[in-house]
Amino acid sequence: METPTFSINDMFSIAGQVAVVTGGGTGLGKAITNAFAINGAKVIITGRRLDVLQKTANDIGGDIICIQGDVSTKTGVEDIVAQISEKTSVVDTLVNCAGVAIPFRTPIQDHNDPDSVEKLLAGVIDADFEKQNAVNINGVYFMTTLLVPLLRKSSNPNVTIIASTAGILNTRMTGSLTYGISKAGAIHAATLLAGRLHPLKIRVNCICPGVFPSDMTGKNSGGYHFDLAEPMRKAAARSTLGRPGKPEEIAGPVVMLASKSGMYMNNALIIIDGGRSMVASINDGIRLPEDS
Ligand SMILES: NC(=O)c1ccc[n+]([C@@H]2O[C@H](COP(=O)([O-])OP(=O)(O)OC[C@H]3O[C@@H](n4cnc5c(N)ncnc54)[C@H](OP(=O)(O)O)[C@@H]3O)[C@@H](O)[C@H]2O)c1
Repeated sequence: METPTFSINDMFSIAGQVAVVTGGGTGLGKAITNAFAINGAKVIITGRRLDVLQKTANDIGGDIICIQGDVSTKTGVEDIVAQISEKTSVVDTLVNCAGVAIPFRTPIQDHNDPDSVEKLLAGVIDADFEKQNAVNINGVYFMTTLLVPLLRKSSNPNVTIIASTAGILNTRMTGSLTYGISKAGAIHAATLLAGRLHPLKIRVNCICPGVFPSDMTGKNSGGYHFDLAEPMRKAAARSTLGRPGKPEEIAGPVVMLASKSGMYMNNALIIIDGGRSMVASINDGIRLPEDS
């Protein structure tokens, strides 16, 4: 056994890695891309909007390759993987960050009023399930499984799935039931994929973020700054830290999972929510004062 150095640079190094970040052009994916690029990894970022990817690559600098593609179908992912294969023969880290959140179509004011709840639930249509599942579950499955040949060439192959606390908690005031169900699928996909891929030495872990400022939760006001939508601001306040997450607070754990420090982690479920799980659940907006 080699003698450990315990040097931060050794324990958490991702230098020289090839990382693929889906949804790497915006929000959480952009922060993760930034952390990998600034620390010496080659980062391949994907998304449907090439101009958004290219702007992110220019803003960050470093070794970033942009690949346009849609993860919501198997053929879309096959096309993305074909493009990745033209750029590299090995992938060390895959971060499945692309995701979509569709709100309820018939928003209500009072989540305890029986008539309002009936209206809320009845407003859901087939497409809400289909679109979110296609990106949040199918996209994760196909990106992970179709990248296996390139992941197998790595000495530390690892996959991180960005799911959501919405897939675990009984949050009522933010998001939608259909989003939460799709994220629950993503969480269990991590477990099942970790189980299947262990003979190939590919680790699969899952991160469930709480509230982080992004296009999904607010309006961009320049760079990494976002004005959170009001329900999200309140949700972030209903955490023990009383604030939303910061870009480094999502990027850091992903870097850890990909580095030597994460090599003993497989099928880990990491909740990064400022303690929101302790106070959300069915209490979300019911028993606690909104701004407490
Ligand atoms: N922000 C939060 O508070 C929060 C909390 C929990 C979990 N999450 C999860 O974190 C991940 C990132 O979200 P975010 O908050 O950073 O929001 P975001 O900025 O809207 O990021 C979503 C990304 O996914 C990409 N994407 C969406 N549909 C796609 C498709 N069909 N094919 C390929 N790429 C697609 C988007 O790029 P294009 O539109 O260009 O394709 C975009 O870059 C998501 O999985 C989200 O569910 C976020």
